[in-house]
Amino acid sequence: MLNRLISPYLVMFAVVCSVSITACAQEDPYYGLYVKECATCHGDGFQGTGQGPALAQPLPIEQGSLDQIIMAIKNGAVEKGMPAFGQALSPLEIKRLAILISEVRMTGVKGNDYYNVQQTFSIPSDPIQTEKHAFRIESVATGIDPLPYSIAPLPDGRILVTEKMRGLRIVNTDGSLSPLIDGTPQTYDHSYQMPGVFLKYGNGWMLDVTLHPDYEENGWIYMTFGDRCMQCNYISRMSASAVSMLKLVRGRIADGVWVEQETLWESDSTTYTPMADMTLGGRMTFDDAGHLFFSLGMKGVSNFSDIQDLDRPSGKIHRIYDDGSIPEDNPYVNHPEAVPSIWSYGHRSPQGLEFNPRTGKLWGTEMGPRGGDEVNLIMPGKNYGWPLYSKGLNYDGTPVEYGKQLGIELDLSTIEQTKIDLTPSPAISSFVIHDGSVFPEWKDNLIVGSLKATELFRMVIDGEDIVHTETIIKDFARIRDVEHGPDGTIYLLLEHADGGQIVKLVKD
Ligand code: HEC
Repeated sequence: MLNRLISPYLVMFAVVCSVSITACAQEDPYYGLYVKECATCHGDGFQGTGQGPALAQPLPIEQGSLDQIIMAIKNGAVEKGMPAFGQALSPLEIKRLAILISEVRMTGVKGNDYYNVQQTFSIPSDPIQTEKHAFRIESVATGIDPLPYSIAPLPDGRILVTEKMRGLRIVNTDGSLSPLIDGTPQTYDHSYQMPGVFLKYGNGWMLDVTLHPDYEENGWIYMTFGDRCMQCNYISRMSASAVSMLKLVRGRIADGVWVEQETLWESDSTTYTPMADMTLGGRMTFDDAGHLFFSLGMKGVSNFSDIQDLDRPSGKIHRIYDDGSIPEDNPYVNHPEAVPSIWSYGHRSPQGLEFNPRTGKLWGTEMGPRGGDEVNLIMPGKNYGWPLYSKGLNYDGTPVEYGKQLGIELDLSTIEQTKIDLTPSPAISSFVIHDGSVFPEWKDNLIVGSLKATELFRMVIDGEDIVHTETIIKDFARIRDVEHGPDGTIYLLLEHADGGQIVKLVKD
């Protein structure tokens, strides 16, 4: 039990120490292997030497695939001085090195600021030319908390914004911010902050905010948050720490106050854990038949517990009606032990969730471990594989195969495969499915944000497949949320150590 309790903290350690290539070199098994086998020719900092070229050119994700790097390491180019490592290194070691090189290429080596949280960024003044459309980026609001989570543009041009450790505010049409809305669920500025790293991990955070499809008639606003308690279950009593779990409410705003709150979904206290709320997900989307889907990430006592268990809510996409009642045709509703709201399972860290009313399809993004970020077509009753299988590796370089610990045999044919494997991980975030009203050539494309890679991607869907990916904003800022305004305008919510911002894409 103690071992399981410690694991959230180990996960955090791994997250921090695997990512800063220069700062955490000794702890990083990928980098250690690189130094041993490769650095004499390619340099400690990937900068190249007289005996081998630089390996650190930043590349957008659609160039230079992982497989190409794997082949280069395996087969070498012996006559040009690059040894073949296919015999000397195992396939897993070669994959680790390829992931390391591709990570360095994606983000460049930026000292300790691997997450690009402190990297100064500016809004480009020139129009951005892309394959199908040119657009400009315009500022909408600045001065938001450095850690915002979600935006929901209102019909009158104002925008609701959640700040994880603060609560809910309104961005006025002139870009000014309202005071925090009174009466919303309590949030906590509770965080364990790693030295030198800006990212925070805590319990009791405000997450997604979204409007009911008939908001103009009924005024309902939906919110998810990490509901926090102390001493409320075995883990919290034993560890004397706060625990939390996702909770979903709706309410209305009247005269600047959150009123008439109704709890639509919550879980019993045995499921509350100290695992950081950054793993909760909590993204919501409505379909056109009165259903509300929401995501709940790996909020077990470890990053792999509960996710394959249908009697636990973590690692699932859930479906309820807009009033919180359970649809009778949910896939596990007749399963005696299952949480009845479960729609799909095996999700690691879901970041975006969108229903396309034109195609009737539900799409979701989720972060993998080291590599293996995913875009999934979400279907009822399906298993998306975590933690039995991932195309990425664990932070310590081992393959993802927790089935052994869980006593679950992996049968790949029962696992729904991702529609695109993003390795190295751009730290995929939220997205919209564009309706074509502002950018006609992007109709039904996914417009997908990323955090670490600081890029905005456009993914073209053909039926059930992603057939093309374009990076439409390169090297920009951490994009936490992507949303549509009522007129189809695409808004981006940016996070940064100096303050969050909202920008919009304006057709040129
Ligand atoms: C003895 C020197 C030497 C060592 C050791 C060496 N390389 Fe290379 N490597 C080279 C040279 C020279 C080239 C350029 C080959 C060419 O021009 O085609 C190269 C090319 C590459 C390329 C392809 C270039 C690109 O931009 O994609 C990759 C990837 C690579 N090396 C990775 C590694 C890795 C990983 C290791 C350690 C396991 C390693 N190399 C060890 C000399 C070396």
